Amino acid sequence: APKAAPVNKVSQYACQRRTTIENNNRIFTDAFEVLAENYEFNEIEGRCLAFRRAASVLKSLPWAVRSVGATQDLPCLGEHTKAVMKEILQYGRSFEVEKILSDERCQTLKLFTSVFGVGPKTAEKWYRRGLRSFSDVLAQPDIHLNRMQQSGFLHYGDISRAVSKAEARAVGNIIDEAVHVITPNAILALTGGFRRGKDFGHDVDYVVTTTELGKEENLLISIIESLKKQGLLLFSDYQASTFDLSKLPSHRFEAMDHFAKCFLILRLEGSRVEGGLQRAQGDGRGWRAVRVDLVSPPADRFAFTMLGWTGSRMFERDLRRFARLERRMLLDNHALFDKTKVLFILGCTKIFTHKGSHYTIFTLVLR
Ligand code: CTP
Ligand code: MN
Ligand code: MN
Ligand code: MN
Repeated sequence: APKAAPVNKVSQYACQRRTTIENNNRIFTDAFEVLAENYEFNEIEGRCLAFRRAASVLKSLPWAVRSVGATQDLPCLGEHTKAVMKEILQYGRSFEVEKILSDERCQTLKLFTSVFGVGPKTAEKWYRRGLRSFSDVLAQPDIHLNRMQQSGFLHYGDISRAVSKAEARAVGNIIDEAVHVITPNAILALTGGFRRGKDFGHDVDYVVTTTELGKEENLLISIIESLKKQGLLLFSDYQASTFDLSKLPSHRFEAMDHFAKCFLILRLEGSRVEGGLQRAQGDGRGWRAVRVDLVSPPADRFAFTMLGWTGSRMFERDLRRFARLERRMLLDNHALFDKTKVLFILGCTKIFTHKGSHYTIFTLVLR
């Protein structure tokens, strides 16, 4: 007799789930994000992660959930998540979510953390001082804003507006021109949400390096210098490399990598963008501010950097968890380490262009 078709079990690891950018369960995942963010504001990390995990599972489904019963074989959905889903299915909304959305503290923290450079700690501090709006904050004579926050307020309108793919490409052209003056052997690759196929992002992420090992150390400094000379640099926060070859991959999930990197705000001229700028109606300016992240690893770590910066955050988190629990390996943005064989697995990268398409070849080398 023919065997019953195997049930396609949804993996508990985001990196084992095929997820498109189409989300069939937005009504649930939007609600989960409100709850997760609220737990984040209240520093209840476990619950925050639980709702983000549940959202990630629902985003991977090629179908829309129409009953709680349909979710019984899905991983990562707990009692609380299912109760929220049930409410949404029954009443079209979740009362818990609505309560949070109408909560003054939550609204204020969300508003304040939407400013570049303002995290939950600063937002909470301002809220406790009785501040509720941007004008409240800016009217305080004794409030200290760091450079990042000052730029955050200055360019608030522009950088809270989505960045289009065409704008991301235009930013890439600017970086490409700058880097090729510095080194002819430059490597530039779009990463982050745009590499995952998203049409819009909150920023533009590029990995930029050179095949001349060691020359990447000061590459970003030179790029920043060039952008400044061209009058395109509105803000720059540069972090030099603290990369140590001998270190094992980090156990921490969200640990930052140690490569040289910079968080920028660039001035993007509309004339450089195919199809024009993404901007507010009635905005007569011919340019907009764009948030740009650049990271510059040594070329032999390019593969791991690309893997680490492509995201999504849950994908990255689960990729590391999968490596550790299912393969006894340690993975981070720098390297992959095999705990059983006690050796590093290094990625060699070759990049070439053929008939207008860019190819990247990773070769794994055992050391
Ligand atoms: N990342 C990282 N180290 C940093 C900053 C970011 O490893 N210092 C990684 C994040 O884990 C994420 C990716 O880079 O996977 C992109 O981060 P981000 O730009 O914040 O998110 P996107 O997925 O690109 O989404 P968005 O469109 O909102 O920018
Ligand atoms: Mn991004
Ligand atoms: Mn982001
Ligand atoms: Mn980014």
